[in-house]
Amino acid sequence: MKKPGKSEAAFRVVAKRYPGLVEKIKRLVEESERAFAGNAPETEGSYLWEHTVHVASLAFKLAEEERRDPLLAAITALFHDAGKFAGGSYHAGGTTEEDEAAKLAGPVLKRSRVPAADRYAILAALGSLYKEGASPNPTAAIVHDADFLSKFGALGVAQFFIKSALRGKTLHATVMNSLSKELTYAACLPLNMRTKAGRARAEAKAEETIRFYETLLKELGETHGGAFRIKTVSVPHPSRRGRKIEARLVLSAACEDCGGGWTVARTIKAGVKCTRLEARLRCRSCGASHEIGFCLPEL
Ligand SMILES: [Fe+2]
Ligand SMILES: [Zn+2]
Repeated sequence: MKKPGKSEAAFRVVAKRYPGLVEKIKRLVEESERAFAGNAPETEGSYLWEHTVHVASLAFKLAEEERRDPLLAAITALFHDAGKFAGGSYHAGGTTEEDEAAKLAGPVLKRSRVPAADRYAILAALGSLYKEGASPNPTAAIVHDADFLSKFGALGVAQFFIKSALRGKTLHATVMNSLSKELTYAACLPLNMRTKAGRARAEAKAEETIRFYETLLKELGETHGGAFRIKTVSVPHPSRRGRKIEARLVLSAACEDCGGGWTVARTIKAGVKCTRLEARLRCRSCGASHEIGFCLPEL
């Protein structure tokens, strides 16, 4: 059997220090993903594991650049989405996925004879990863940055489309439903970074990603019989009063039904999990409307 991520530095180091640990986590991640998928079509390999490998390898490199323990960062990253589908449902019972990840990680780390101090460090990092108001944790900051960086650049774009296809969406549906969020997060990527090493990569990744999607929209417009446009809207910064961030909305250049122009009304809703941007497009000529809504990045 091919070892997961065999040749990659992060995996060599983890596997050498704790033989069998990567395989155990891989099984955990794949099981939770499968439980969640229910009777969805069988896939070859695991989307969530591919994402996990990607994040762990990035976290390892960021930790080296930040002069933090890369082994701790890589192991934390390996667990970071392990609790995502705990019990086969998303966020069941109000526990966050990082709490679930920490619950799953404890026994596995113990069985792999990870020393107590490192175990606690990993559990603490998992616990504070996406928790609001958690005290700053340098390992969590590295994994946070790796997780977001992994979603952009060529590899991130490829994963985005794979994920969408796994949910049964066509290219057109993906562009209309999800690309606004993706572009907004790409534009905000540098602001979203918690480490210097992450910030150093974010700018280039954001640019590269936005350029790709702009080209994609242009080509789609030329072949699809209707151009797209990206509208930049300024919205309140989700955590800093008085500041603004730029969100991006992907719209067809004109109403598909009658060729009329859109009016865009937007509202910001403070929800439980996030601050949502909701934009309602309405055709000035025929009244056709559609909505784009997504959680703004937590900055
Ligand atoms: Fe993730
Ligand atoms: Zn219309």
